[in-house]
Amino acid sequence: MSLSGEYFDGLYAADADPWGIEAGWYEERKRAVVLAALPRARYARAFEPGCAGGALSAPLADRCDELVCWDPAARAVAATRARLAGRPHVRVEQGALPGSAPDGTFDLVVASEVVYYLDAGDREAFWCAVEACLRPGGHLLAVHWLREAPEYPVEGAEVHDELAGRAALARTVRHEEADFRLEVYARVPPVARSVAEETGLR
Ligand SMILES: C[S@@+](CC[C@H](N)C(=O)[O-])C[C@H]1O[C@@H](n2cnc3c(N)ncnc32)[C@H](O)[C@@H]1O
Repeated sequence: MSLSGEYFDGLYAADADPWGIEAGWYEERKRAVVLAALPRARYARAFEPGCAGGALSAPLADRCDELVCWDPAARAVAATRARLAGRPHVRVEQGALPGSAPDGTFDLVVASEVVYYLDAGDREAFWCAVEACLRPGGHLLAVHWLREAPEYPVEGAEVHDELAGRAALARTVRHEEADFRLEVYARVPPVARSVAEETGLR
């Protein structure tokens, strides 16, 4: 079973930052790796499900003309709204995957530490929703913890292994270390291009 919104509301009731995302070098560095791995300097419209308190949403907002953030936990939504108040190009909604994606299409979806909360059926629905809402050539960035988390429906590595089998997505970036795996996939067709190809270096 996917972990429920009530489960996450319970975590946030006990602690405003249940995973220590706001403090500490591990998360700060991982955010820097995520932002460096995005192949494009700017994106027109991005979707970030599972935004928590908006620690990643804030720097993402600097790279996007429009950003839609979702979280099922009311406390997370309130924190992200407060953090990004005054940034009218950011919309923060209470929403949970798989659901349908927000209206319209995107050229970036960032799934950071969120897909391993979903059971197999919900993950399949999410991958299908990503393929449907990504514009041709748009990017999905996925990043997940690789160490043990027995309370989650699936391990992070399996989430990424599933992605590798999707015909409509072609991997352009892969970064793996002991703690997490990060990948960027391009929605194909058209044929995926490297950063050098996109920026005219070859
Ligand atoms: C570990 S935090 C990740 C926060 C942020 N993405 C990051 O990497 O810094 C996971 C967040 O996902 C949210 N979440 C859990 N299940 C979700 C679902 N089905 N859809 C969207 N978000 C979900 C939780 O409420 C929590 O705020």
